[in-house]
Amino acid sequence: MRYMELAREELSRLQQKEKVRVLAMETSCDETAAAVVENGRVILSSEVFSQIDMHALYGGVVPEIASRAHVEKVTPVLDEALRKAGMALSDVDALAVTYGPGLVGALLAGVSYMKGLAYVTGKPLVPVHHIEGHICANYLTDPSLTPPFLCLVVSGGHSHILHVKDYGVYELLGCTQDDAAGEAFDNAARVLDLPYPGGPRLDQLAEQGNPDALPLPHPHTEGRYDFSFSGLKTAFLNAVHHQQQVGDMMDRADLAASFRKAVVDMLCEKTMLAVKDTGAARLALAGGVSANSLLRKKMQALCGEAGIPLYMPRLSLCGDNGAMIASAAYFRLMKGEIADLSLNARPSLSLFKGKN
Ligand code: KG4
Ligand code: ZN
Repeated sequence: MRYMELAREELSRLQQKEKVRVLAMETSCDETAAAVVENGRVILSSEVFSQIDMHALYGGVVPEIASRAHVEKVTPVLDEALRKAGMALSDVDALAVTYGPGLVGALLAGVSYMKGLAYVTGKPLVPVHHIEGHICANYLTDPSLTPPFLCLVVSGGHSHILHVKDYGVYELLGCTQDDAAGEAFDNAARVLDLPYPGGPRLDQLAEQGNPDALPLPHPHTEGRYDFSFSGLKTAFLNAVHHQQQVGDMMDRADLAASFRKAVVDMLCEKTMLAVKDTGAARLALAGGVSANSLLRKKMQALCGEAGIPLYMPRLSLCGDNGAMIASAAYFRLMKGEIADLSLNARPSLSLFKGKN
């Protein structure tokens, strides 16, 4: 029997099952990650191999190094995920893989590998959008969360406010007009000579600083729910360079705290505006920057004032991982969305219909 016939048969069988276990692989950037998740909600295992040490020397992710490291690590990481779940490959109901957005060579390492596994096992393969995975990290953290809800997605490459209308159904309310929030944090961290990855280091340093030490502009945006970080970044960079030139540097912790506050203020202001306008009953955070301690604290306080619950991925699920991909895949699988073997990496895949 041909692959798609086998996969469709498997699909109709597993759609009747009480417990569906998905094995997922994530290789879109600098983490090689694999996980087994049951019914989109329960993590049976989650393995993450971080390449940070390999890229730190260069101050950022080197695509060629990332692709090669993924090729080396996919098998051991996937093996370990199966071992920790106490399962063999044959026990898994379906396979999933991130197919975009991300670095093309990195994505291809995962996509080719999982296509190979699908072909030899005949199991259905679910292609997953990386950002959808980040959103689903909330389903793993809080099993009671169901759509609809509003979500602030903030990662290294994306900053969106979106309405999660149903599983896999999104409406974009606002997005960044220039840099992503994570990118802004990483740039500011570089100016402060903090090692890669800068965002979490800047967050740590900011804890000891005065957030009002350096006044920064509050950028204007055309869209009511849009963000803009590039003006903020330039103002910060100019201020630090000026201080260096005149030999009168402010305390680095004060600089970090001031920058963090400016970014978090903008994220909170626009998100709460969207909450108010839409009358949203609950809010979720997603993406690497949702680990930011000030963002978590401030959002908690604001949602408390607004009288709505706030959902945040637990810290271990904020960054890239395979469990969030397996969770997203489960909900797509239940709708019968599986790939054929022509699946390819899509480096600039969009989450919204009609866009890219
Ligand atoms: O979601 P993610 O792991 O990868 C992408 O999909 O991009 O996000 C990575 C981004 C990086 O820019 C990183 O510096 C930032 O998230 N980040 C943080 C923190 N932890 C990670 N930014 C600010 N504060 C943090 N605690
Ligand atoms: Zn990510």
